[in-house]
Amino acid sequence: MHIAMIGTGYVGLVSGTCFAEMGNNVWCVDIDHKKIEGLRKGELPIYEPGLEEMVQRNAKEGRLGFTTDFSAAIPGADVCFIAVGTPPGEDGSADTSYVLQAARSIAREMTGYTVIVDKSTVPVGTSEIVKATIAEVLRDRGVACEFDVVSNPEFLKEGVAIDDFMRPDRVVVGCGGQRAEAVMRELYEPFTRNQHPIYFMDIKSAEITKYAANAMLATRISFMNEIAELCGRVGGDINNVRIGIGSDERIGMSFLYAGTGYGGSCFPKDVKELVAVGARNGIEMAVTRAVESVNERQKGILVRAVVERFGENLKGRSFAIWGLAFKPQTDDMREAPSIVIIDELVRRGARVRAFDPEAFDQARSYLSKHLDSVDFIADQYAALDGSDALLLVTEWKQFRQPDFSRMLSALREPIVFDGRNQYDPAKMAELGFHYFSIGRSVLAASASR
Ligand SMILES: NC(=O)c1ccc[n+]([C@@H]2O[C@H](COP(=O)([O-])OP(=O)(O)OC[C@H]3O[C@@H](n4cnc5c(N)ncnc54)[C@H](O)[C@@H]3O)[C@@H](O)[C@H]2O)c1
Repeated sequence: MHIAMIGTGYVGLVSGTCFAEMGNNVWCVDIDHKKIEGLRKGELPIYEPGLEEMVQRNAKEGRLGFTTDFSAAIPGADVCFIAVGTPPGEDGSADTSYVLQAARSIAREMTGYTVIVDKSTVPVGTSEIVKATIAEVLRDRGVACEFDVVSNPEFLKEGVAIDDFMRPDRVVVGCGGQRAEAVMRELYEPFTRNQHPIYFMDIKSAEITKYAANAMLATRISFMNEIAELCGRVGGDINNVRIGIGSDERIGMSFLYAGTGYGGSCFPKDVKELVAVGARNGIEMAVTRAVESVNERQKGILVRAVVERFGENLKGRSFAIWGLAFKPQTDDMREAPSIVIIDELVRRGARVRAFDPEAFDQARSYLSKHLDSVDFIADQYAALDGSDALLLVTEWKQFRQPDFSRMLSALREPIVFDGRNQYDPAKMAELGFHYFSIGRSVLAASASR
């Protein structure tokens, strides 16, 4: 098939490349000239394991091209995906202006029957607006092109995006007619072999499914963070509670980790939009609103522990941070808890020595107002040198079994604030660390010693 992927960010680049991998001809289109120029040279704008090799190979074999020119990509395309950003607006509602701009660009160049697929996460009802927008442009052009608008939300996870796209738990397609359904079924057939189902449903249900999925996952995180706070206060270990409840088949083990709160480009904005769409329709989304407020509070948990140990004024103190990206295996800094943590440490007068395996370039722009107070250190142990304590913020694998004796000799004081519960509290105490982690009262006790 001929495919045009409008928007070459995380979702567009991964999806476009995976469709090319299956033999389709794919144009990735973006309005960002610099990004497209880099991609033409094989340079990726993001870090995603396995993606660079796959992009370069498919480009070399002629199935994957990059352009800013819609007239090169749209005419003759069987399917045009819209995979542009939908950032939160002032009131938390998702901003669909990029989606509509992309829809107009497609409509200006369409030459025959095209399936236009909304892959961006969009508020319920957006597909209808996209349809009307395209119809209006075609009318102005005086062209009678047939088309269908389909909703196909994306569920890939950054860090394992290729695997998620190639072997999805499910593909959801909101679709109004058989013609578009046949095209989508054919397109996804290679990805839905071996028990990976494709679910066709009405368009609005598909649009809501994406928000409901992210809000459900965010709910699990906030719920566990709330229970962790209780464990920390009354005595208990959140890890034991996680095993105790997760082994119930109705609950399951995944997404039950306490930590420093969720971040990234999706959960925060999608939770906000769900609250906003409720408000637009006269519904108080009480559960979702609580999820957000617990998460905001949780982002401050490590700094609250630091303040408890060192006092409100952190002038003259230095703290090492391990992990800046919002999660491991990505360089994505959007809404990363590390931003809030560093902001607060610096505001209280501290210096920060930060290490992350991949996110330095992104972090420098997200922390631009603190560049005088933050050193980016290329070695995880060197980041500890002369620091008053370590704050572990993102659970990159290389932090799981570190050289504890190097840590002890590099840190000014043997104090670890672990925002991801990576270590055994008893072992840390034995090694001589003062160790704070989330929702494990033994550790809270050892931290306050
Ligand atoms: N990042 C994820 O993990 C993820 C997962 C599932 C769904 N989503 C959703 O997918 C959508 C895209 O997310 P992303 O993270 O890939 O965004 P992104 O910000 O990484 O990329 C968006 C790209 O779209 C381009 N763009 C904007 N307007 C354009 C236009 N009119 N024409 C062509 N290109 C245009 C931008 O230049 C940018 O390169 C969002 O709605 C997001 O919520 C993201």
